[in-house]
This record gives sequence, structure tokens and C-alpha cells, in this order.
Amino acid sequence: MPIVRDKKIEVLFSSEQLAMRNRELAEQIALGDLKDILVLSILKGSFVFAADLIRALHAAGLAPEVEFISVSSYGAGTEPGKLKLLRDVESDVRGRDILLIDDILESGNTLKFTQDLMLERGANKVAIVALLNKGMKRRAQVHADYVGFECPDKFVVGYGMDAGHAFRELPFVGVVTGEV
Ligand code: IMP
Ligand code: MG
Repeated sequence: MPIVRDKKIEVLFSSEQLAMRNRELAEQIALGDLKDILVLSILKGSFVFAADLIRALHAAGLAPEVEFISVSSYGAGTEPGKLKLLRDVESDVRGRDILLIDDILESGNTLKFTQDLMLERGANKVAIVALLNKGMKRRAQVHADYVGFECPDKFVVGYGMDAGHAFRELPFVGVVTGEV
């Protein structure tokens, strides 16, 4: 079991599994109906997944443009589902086919908010790819077109995902199981 920052980490999805799944997802996306794709990566959690997925998309014959957006939920006690835009996209999204990328689809609030925002701005289509799906926690009406893996109801870290700003650098997805 890997030890990082004096914590034991149980590996849920290894870097080999992630690489293989990225290739499969890219091939599925290439067979889909998105044209002239604008990839939109939701910061910060999805940046590692997005970085690997765009290279898998290239290998699958696609040439996406890449954009970033950052949204966050308000602090505890405020209305669930209300999010704030921390950093906006730079491109005009009108008429574009967007591939929205997030690390985890949990309540669905983040992806729903971002998808609605892009559609309001006149995007032609907004497909969703989530690396991990926590289906048991859904609250918003949102559908992921592509899912990497079903995720157990555990707090996961690595491959871009953090716990208190730590562990984004891990090349695998894991769960912190205890102190050394
Ligand atoms: P949603 O809006 O509830 O779907 O939240 C999804 C967001 O919560 C993801 O983009 C992650 O940033 C974060 N998140 C949810 N579960 C985890 C986890 O297990 N580890 C790290 N971040 C998580
Ligand atoms: Mg996130």
C-alpha cells in the first residue's frame, strides 16, 4: 500500500487502469456526434484527467480546443445547488459542441450549473464526461454521457483530486486509510 505524506493510501484505480479507460473513453467520444470539440475542464479537480483525456482524444483522431472554468459551492448553510463562478471561460461558446469534463459526478450540482450556463450562452451541445460517478449521491437532474468508473461512496484523492489541498499529484485514485 503506498504511503504518501505519512498517510496510507489504498489504490482504487491504478494509473494503468486510468490510462486504459481514457483510451476507451476517447474512442467512444470519437464515435459520438460532437463536432469540432471545445473541451471544458472544471478546475481544479479535473485538470489531470483532462490533460490525459485530450491526449487520448488526439490518439483517437480528434483535435479539440481546450478551455477551463472554475466554480465552487457557497459555504455551508446556503442553498444547495447554488454555485458561484470563480473563473470564467475565455472563448465565445455560441454554437460550439462542448465536452464538459469533471473529476467526480456526485450531487450533480457542479455539472448541472456549468452545463446550464453553457447552454444559456448558446452552446450547440454540452456533453458530459466524468471520471468517477457517485450515483448514490445525486440531487440535480443531470446525465453523464461518458463515465470512467463507478465510484464507491468513499472520499477519494489523487489524479487531480484533493483532500485539504493535498494528494492531487498522485498518479492513481485512492482512499486515505490511516496514519503510518
Ligand atoms: P457535485 O457538485 O456534488 O457533483 O460535486 C462534485 C465535486 O465535488 C467534484 O468536482 C469534486 O471536486 C468534489 N468531490 C466530490 N467527491 C469528492 C471526493 O471523494 N474527493 C475529492 N473531491 C470530491
Ligand atoms: Mg471539482
